Amino acid sequence: MFKDALHIPFAIKGTIIHSTQTSALVILRDCWIGVRSGKIVYLQQNDNRIIEELKKHDIEEDNIIYLQEPKFVVPGFIDTHIHASQYPNCGKCLDEGMLSWLQKYTIPTEAKFADVDFARTQYRKVVSRVVKNGTTTACYLATIFTDSTLELCDIIQSVGQRAVVGKVNMDQNSATYYIEDTVTSAQETERYINEFTRKEYTHIKPCITPRYAGNCSMELMEQLGQIARNHNLHIQTHLAETTEECDMVMNLFPGHNAYADIYSKAGLLTRKTVLAHGIHLTAEERRLIRLQQSGISHCPNSNIAIRSGLLDVRTCLDEKISVGLGTDISGGYSSSILNAMRAAICTSNTIAILKGPNYRQLDYREVFKMATIGGAEVLEMDDEIGNFEVGKEFDALVIDPAVEGGPFDVFRDDTIEDVFQKFVFLGDDRNISRVYVSGHNILRNLRNN
Ligand code: GUN
Ligand code: FE
Repeated sequence: MFKDALHIPFAIKGTIIHSTQTSALVILRDCWIGVRSGKIVYLQQNDNRIIEELKKHDIEEDNIIYLQEPKFVVPGFIDTHIHASQYPNCGKCLDEGMLSWLQKYTIPTEAKFADVDFARTQYRKVVSRVVKNGTTTACYLATIFTDSTLELCDIIQSVGQRAVVGKVNMDQNSATYYIEDTVTSAQETERYINEFTRKEYTHIKPCITPRYAGNCSMELMEQLGQIARNHNLHIQTHLAETTEECDMVMNLFPGHNAYADIYSKAGLLTRKTVLAHGIHLTAEERRLIRLQQSGISHCPNSNIAIRSGLLDVRTCLDEKISVGLGTDISGGYSSSILNAMRAAICTSNTIAILKGPNYRQLDYREVFKMATIGGAEVLEMDDEIGNFEVGKEFDALVIDPAVEGGPFDVFRDDTIEDVFQKFVFLGDDRNISRVYVSGHNILRNLRNN
């Protein structure tokens, strides 16, 4: 039996890399991190009274894991926007722009999830894939089907991943075989929340998920806003992803000045709201989002793959809007947040090329911050996860840059920061040797799943 499986307190000694509020990259060499009951109880460099210190937290010498460089530990990655139900389409169907892509490929695929057995098979695959890629927390969209959404939650629970999961709501502008009426949509959402609560999941939270204003009437959105307030729930939706979508939505809601106003009017902009994309927003809409303290999920792979546009993350960060990263499977074709980090850099570099040398593009440190503590802020979980502050949950990855048969090479004169940078640009699941959620290495659970 493995020690962490029994919840035995343990410590890791080695190189710890994370972001803090004030610094996007902090490298702590010769660092001790103590974990008890899934939480970080100790973080210190070079403590010569370490063994006594660890004993105070019931950590025995036998339960210390020594990591040699170039190995290091980072916080688990946070995917703030992923459609679990679109995973069968990952890596295909990218020839259409967003609205026709939805109609032609995505809605027919999601409709198949009415069959719970089909859903179970697909959901097992996507959860397993993203965990291998180091996603310790995912904010999932499922489908309009309550029972198969609960099946997704059961699978996440059995694997031990941390997640926010939403049953999708849609009462207008969709195919007759994949739509709800307004009353049923609200009732099924209540049923989802009730069943969810009854299950007592350990690390999963429910989420209110109006797909986007194009698919939801104001009546439905207002009811969903009310349900979210009643239960203090997370909310996720799409916003201003393409100009075509913005025009369509403004035509559907003629009484509103701007797209973000529609969600605001419905009570859907809260501290716990995740807004996917937000590419084509005005400064006034961003001000509203900032005032309501909602966050943006930047999904750069998707934005390029289906040609939606380039989100100017620098402007959002300068305006103090929280930004995390999302894969947006399957508009995005990669299930890896490492890929999202690179795509975010590519997007930012492209904007820099277009805008000229005064533009400050994102660097590898900043995208790492967005993938970890940034995502935690967007999900309003930054008190709990996102970095290695004492008191937070130990959600972490052990990275083995020199793994045999790995995707890049480490040279003798590479500094640890060089190696970290190589991992950001070149690393993949082969480099991820442990995936801890709340102190448990959940990679182990995949093999039994
Ligand atoms: N807008 C509404 N639905 C979707 C979706 O499933 N994916 C993306 N990328 N945008 C959307
Ligand atoms: Fe999406």
